[in-house]
Amino acid sequence: VSDQYLKPAGGDLPDIWRYWHDQRPPAELVHLNSASVGRSSMATLRAFSEQADREAAAGFRSASVQAQPLLERGRADLATLLGVQPAGVAFTQSGRAALSSLLAAWPLHAGEAVAVVPSEWGPNLTAFTNRGLRPVRLPVHGDGRLDLTGLEAALAQTRPAFVHLTQVASHRCLVQPVTEAARLCRAVGVPLWIDATQALGHVSTGYGADVIYATSRKWLTGPRGAGLLAVSAAWWDILRVRPVGKHPESVSPVALLERPETSLAARAGLCAAVREYLDTGPERVSQRLAEVGSLTRSALAGIPGWAVLDTAKVSSAITALRATAGQDIAAVKAWLLADRGIVTTAEGRSRAPWEMAEPLLRVSPHVDCCTQDLALLREALIAAD
Ligand SMILES: Cc1ncc(COP(=O)(O)O)c(C=O)c1O
Repeated sequence: VSDQYLKPAGGDLPDIWRYWHDQRPPAELVHLNSASVGRSSMATLRAFSEQADREAAAGFRSASVQAQPLLERGRADLATLLGVQPAGVAFTQSGRAALSSLLAAWPLHAGEAVAVVPSEWGPNLTAFTNRGLRPVRLPVHGDGRLDLTGLEAALAQTRPAFVHLTQVASHRCLVQPVTEAARLCRAVGVPLWIDATQALGHVSTGYGADVIYATSRKWLTGPRGAGLLAVSAAWWDILRVRPVGKHPESVSPVALLERPETSLAARAGLCAAVREYLDTGPERVSQRLAEVGSLTRSALAGIPGWAVLDTAKVSSAITALRATAGQDIAAVKAWLLADRGIVTTAEGRSRAPWEMAEPLLRVSPHVDCCTQDLALLREALIAAD
């Protein structure tokens, strides 16, 4: 990357977001890919490395006992964010690992329906079919948001094993009306499962889903190698769990979904990241991310050869662009990184196979995005072939 494109550190940020920026190792690139991975703070990286250090010094068993207060506080923090009891939260290795544990533990029968919207994340659809389930479409409005009247009518007609919604879509600016969906599902006793992988650390998640799962490394800016799931107490008794190792009787069925062989360093980092997120203020973060999303969409509007998807006011910091002049999205993404030091994401159709007609370029800045970052991207896209 030539010196002329180096990022102005922190740019025109308000103090609180400059502080957030300064809590992280200095950025060598313009990171516009939080929907893939967020930048961890020094406190999070310290919690991770201190746990690894303790394991090397005192051995895994003793270090794991010492980590319990931090992990239990993290579990309680996550329970607050997800609207469940602390005993209803389990740590996992990732978002996908969380879904896979849930699908294994929930009593499901081959051929049962799982109701989804057309924008559903591709690998989730694959996980459902691999489990023998039949994904069926729920009606949506023109923008891809769930049609709540249609959901009510669908649930009155047939009873799927569960309704599954990806709260914040990964591939474009789209947020589902999960609070209202939770109310409608609860009224008829159909469980609502939420993929909050792009939602936790981004928008509010405490609306009382029956099942909700997420990852550490994206908007929460925790480490890789950690995820989580939560199940509301009403469904604990139906879970089919097999205890691994010795567990006291009092352990909840959800906690039994945790695998013993795991990176405690990643969990410790996740717990530190969650605490920092709560200290910053989830409401403040989501307002800022909504603002960052709309600044991004305005900054990238009207570039020749590019079209911004979903320009309406949606509270997501994820923006997708279509190439309207036949550009190769993967090549543009690679050029932005190599030539301008700007990190974006090239999205293939498999990300949302029921909806995406073509590859898209994704831009997903975090709260410390400044107007200079967006100006650099705009200038780069104008210059890209
Ligand atoms: C909507 C959605 N669900 C699930 C996942 C999987 O999360 P993980 O990579 O932690 O398994 C992702 C990751 O990109 C995602 O965007």
